[in-house]
Amino acid sequence: EKIAVLYGGNSAEREVSLNSGKAIAKAIANKGYQVELIDTKGFDLSNLVKQKIDRVFIALHGRGGEDGCLQGALEYLAIPYTGSKVLGSALSMDKVRSKQVFAASDLPTAKYRVVNKLDFLALTNSSVVLAELLHQLGGRVMVKPANEGSSIGMAQASTVEQLTNALTEAFGFDQQVLLEAWIDGPEYTVSILGQQALPAIHMETPREFYDYEAKYQSNSTQYHCPCGLNAEDEVYIQTLALKAFNATGASGWGRVDLMRERDGSWQLLEVNTVPGMTETSLVPKSAKQFGLSFEDLVERILALSVT
Ligand code: DAL
Ligand code: MG
Repeated sequence: EKIAVLYGGNSAEREVSLNSGKAIAKAIANKGYQVELIDTKGFDLSNLVKQKIDRVFIALHGRGGEDGCLQGALEYLAIPYTGSKVLGSALSMDKVRSKQVFAASDLPTAKYRVVNKLDFLALTNSSVVLAELLHQLGGRVMVKPANEGSSIGMAQASTVEQLTNALTEAFGFDQQVLLEAWIDGPEYTVSILGQQALPAIHMETPREFYDYEAKYQSNSTQYHCPCGLNAEDEVYIQTLALKAFNATGASGWGRVDLMRERDGSWQLLEVNTVPGMTETSLVPKSAKQFGLSFEDLVERILALSVT
């Protein structure tokens, strides 16, 4: 069987994808499959048919590869691929629509407001409007481009000036920006394989939040797996994560991010349908705790792509 690992691409998470793709391709080769590692930047997807590719492992993060576009193209070419289908990919990529789906499914997620770029640019009394938004969300917010990953374009804001700067930065990445009420607590993540929630991970960073640097560049980020929660709480967030995963229509594999408020309550952040897959990424960490090696994990994700 011939497997293509699609990686790289054009998104802001290209660098992360290059690392995920290489690790995945190596694991697939070690499992004895024939593997082609293909950078989709400038690649003509119809070549997959010419190259007689049987299955695709999608190792692209962010727009183009994780958001349903590539998934739609592969449906059209009738080539099986790993992970979520078109709808689950598109919905999970969009943090605003994801929160609407969580709310409609009675799943907990922090209070939010949405700002559109054109509305923002047209504001004549922006400081009044932004002060009101801050007030409505409890005085401190996390600003996020609606469709990004790896914390790219994100910043916190508790003053009108900070909010103006954060919005300007975030609009460099997206037409729509999410303002989320600040969650004053630690971040956790739950990996999903099929319909199985794997052991949760607790991420701890001395930085203001678990940002790009904390994720990929800092050696002061700590990952706790086992996560330190009691069994009841861990099962609770595993159940919550699986419900969120199913609510957005995600399938196959993924990772659901959550945060815990100081009062002990939980807030869902988002579903990642192509989470990072370097040997030290989060999903491989929880798989290891579950008893699956990186190579076994990759093979299992591939097996789940057969519909
Ligand atoms: N968006 C990055 C790759 C992640 O969720 O792991
Ligand atoms: Mg993400």
